[in-house]
Amino acid sequence: MSTTAVTQTSFDVKNLELADLGKRRIEWANQSMPVLQTIRKDFIKQQPLKGIRISACLHVTTETANLAITLRDGGADVVLCASNPLSTQDDVAASLVRDYGISVFAIKGEDNDSYYKHILSALDHKPHMTMDDGADLVSVALTKRQDVLDGIIAGTEETTTGVIRLRAMAKDGQLRYPIIAVNDALTKHMFDNRYGTGQSTMDGVIRCTNALIAGSKFVVAGFGWCGRGLASRARGAGAEVIVTEVDPTKALEAVMEGYRVMSMIEAAKIGDVFCTVTGNKNVLAKEHFDLMKDGAIISNSGHFNVEIDIPSLEKMSSSKRTTRAFVEEYSLKDGRKINLLGEGRLINLASAEGHPPSVMDMSFADQALCCEYMVKNYKTLEKKVHTVPADLDKRVARLKLEAMGVKIDKLTPEQEEYLASWNEGT
Ligand SMILES: NC(=O)c1ccc[n+]([C@@H]2O[C@H](COP(=O)([O-])OP(=O)(O)OC[C@H]3O[C@@H](n4cnc5c(N)ncnc54)[C@H](O)[C@@H]3O)[C@@H](O)[C@H]2O)c1
Repeated sequence: MSTTAVTQTSFDVKNLELADLGKRRIEWANQSMPVLQTIRKDFIKQQPLKGIRISACLHVTTETANLAITLRDGGADVVLCASNPLSTQDDVAASLVRDYGISVFAIKGEDNDSYYKHILSALDHKPHMTMDDGADLVSVALTKRQDVLDGIIAGTEETTTGVIRLRAMAKDGQLRYPIIAVNDALTKHMFDNRYGTGQSTMDGVIRCTNALIAGSKFVVAGFGWCGRGLASRARGAGAEVIVTEVDPTKALEAVMEGYRVMSMIEAAKIGDVFCTVTGNKNVLAKEHFDLMKDGAIISNSGHFNVEIDIPSLEKMSSSKRTTRAFVEEYSLKDGRKINLLGEGRLINLASAEGHPPSVMDMSFADQALCCEYMVKNYKTLEKKVHTVPADLDKRVARLKLEAMGVKIDKLTPEQEEYLASWNEGT
């Protein structure tokens, strides 16, 4: 991987001396991102993003670093800030600044004020494009930095919660430019949300607690793409998995997958480890804390830290202490203890490293190709949330299969004709 020894003057990272480690880890991730590597080679030749300023608000991880480098190599001028106060890898942020000439505004553990100050710094870049994971960048631009809006031609959004927020903005007539929902690509949510979140969430829970999953009762709230992945990984680790849902179809699917399905009020009494992945708020609330066993572990892997009602937990407690990194032990007034992981923020990024590069290879290939698509097509796109074109999605799947050495069949002309006709029933 080529690097440019540019020293950025505008950045805010923890410590540039961490850059050596960050560079090695960025290169390690790159080895498992063959699809992004292919796109990067094309971008270097074709320069599809030449002159485009991109402000990206993403989890600052080794995988994101490889995306940012790809965009830069495609001609873009990229600035990066964090999409969560706890998800930044400080060594990666340092290396991006020192070794790759990419401005980063992100420090792991930053407080809310710094988090938003960093988003504003990313908007100072006067982007032509925004790239979001959770829609914080767009919403800050809309509410606090309207001066930059006229210059923005398009945007991309990485996650389920961000897409939901953006669709609400579009419905209210607030969206000022077209945004593509990268999350809706099949090569994104079927793999990243399911296998990526599934594995890395287990990793996060285990790293910060060292709890034995085998034999435990592991409660997964939400059986969407992330929940399915998490439930299957928890089962694989030997847990008795309990699923809670509000959607009858998803609940039925969980039943037929062999999970125990019940209301959270019931699950609260018996669970050992809880993890919310719903994109909703107060999924674990006072009425549930009231019933939990002494020593229960509660965590979240949904986008925002609202899935667990932490203010209620605070009120119910007489004291709290940090027992291990990312573990807060709340002592309730009745003597029970409840352990909150990672401040209720996405536990896979707070205490582990987020998704493995091999799965982010597809999500970020989608991101890079969507950027190229938006630059080519923004003039004809309405100011709303757009889905990823099917051919782009299939291209990423094909490239991933090629990289894995997997060959598949091709429709014969006869089969194509058969599938396209309605009168050939026999
Ligand atoms: N941790 C990560 O790295 C990561 C990765 C991808 C997505 N996410 C986030 O995870 C969340 C879920 O994403 P998804 O793609 O699985 O969404 P999804 O829409 O596929 O699934 C969410 C599920 O939660 C259910 N739900 C909603 N309210 C509930 C409640 N009160 N109790 C029980 N179930 C409830 C819904 O019915 C739905 O089935 C989102 O916030 C998304 O942004 C996190």
